[in-house]
Amino acid sequence: MRVLATIAETRAALDKEREAGRTVGFVPTMGFLHEGHLSLVRRARAENDVVLVSIFVNPLQFGPSEDLAAYPRDLDRDLALLEPGADVVFHPSVEEMYPEGAGTTRVTVGEIGSRLCGANRPGHFDGVATVVAKLYNVAGPSRVYFGQKDAQQLVILRRLARDLDFPVEVIGCPIVREADGLAVSSRNVYLDAGERRAATVLFKALQQAADIVSRGEREGRRISEAMAATIAAEPRARLDYAACVDPGTLADLDRVDGEALLAVAAWVGKARLIDNQTVTAQAASIEGSR
Ligand code: PAJ
Repeated sequence: MRVLATIAETRAALDKEREAGRTVGFVPTMGFLHEGHLSLVRRARAENDVVLVSIFVNPLQFGPSEDLAAYPRDLDRDLALLEPGADVVFHPSVEEMYPEGAGTTRVTVGEIGSRLCGANRPGHFDGVATVVAKLYNVAGPSRVYFGQKDAQQLVILRRLARDLDFPVEVIGCPIVREADGLAVSSRNVYLDAGERRAATVLFKALQQAADIVSRGEREGRRISEAMAATIAAEPRARLDYAACVDPGTLADLDRVDGEALLAVAAWVGKARLIDNQTVTAQAASIEGSR
């Protein structure tokens, strides 16, 4: 496994692989790796000749009052976890990625970036799209792997590739969860024992909502209100949003007839946690509920 810190070295290493006809599978991360990240690496390993993982805590996607400085980092541990699955690790400094400070050029993702998580994180998804576009230009991957855990990010990055014609296949991978349902996240280390127990309320809210959909509820507002009420009943959680949206546009759904994305975000202690689940309303029960 090669660990490279510069754009030039990484580009040269991957150029060589591509010239030899080998496919490059890419897993972008901010490090402090866990089973969620490693599931993407395994998938990339199974489907490509060469696996590249980037580890870069991207300042552009953090707001001024967010946890950029506190974001957990442990490069040695990350490299040990990647050894079995990655061929190349790109771990640039902030100066390598942004030699002139943040620069001025941005990829703007438009309105979809102000929904859900974007409502309280202005500029976040422009920061994500900008760094991912830069990483594509460094890496030239054939396939890139993102988790469904960050559902809005995945939708936006599918659009990025389509809208700007990046020649990369974007692959979404299932959410990896702890035994009690909590979605695995680097930010879970912020939770103390009581908060850790309370954090399962996000998954519970999604499960209950999926259950009422399966029993025939079709009204988007009633579904999102049910999730909000479940989260509000947990004293250690502070709701950010609970939404029932179109999985492609992330616009609120009045009625669910077909696929819907149920998405929640809440603060538990210092951690802002997100989770989501896709549900499908069967045509027969739509008819039945009318
Ligand atoms: P990061 O939060 O490190 O996540 C890297 C990738 O791991 C993302 O695609 C994310 O969706 C996926 N992931 C995280 N937790 C997961 C889980 N429990 N199950 C499945 N996949 C999971 O997302 C970012 O970094 C950044 O925004 C990045 C795309 C690297 C751009 O800076």
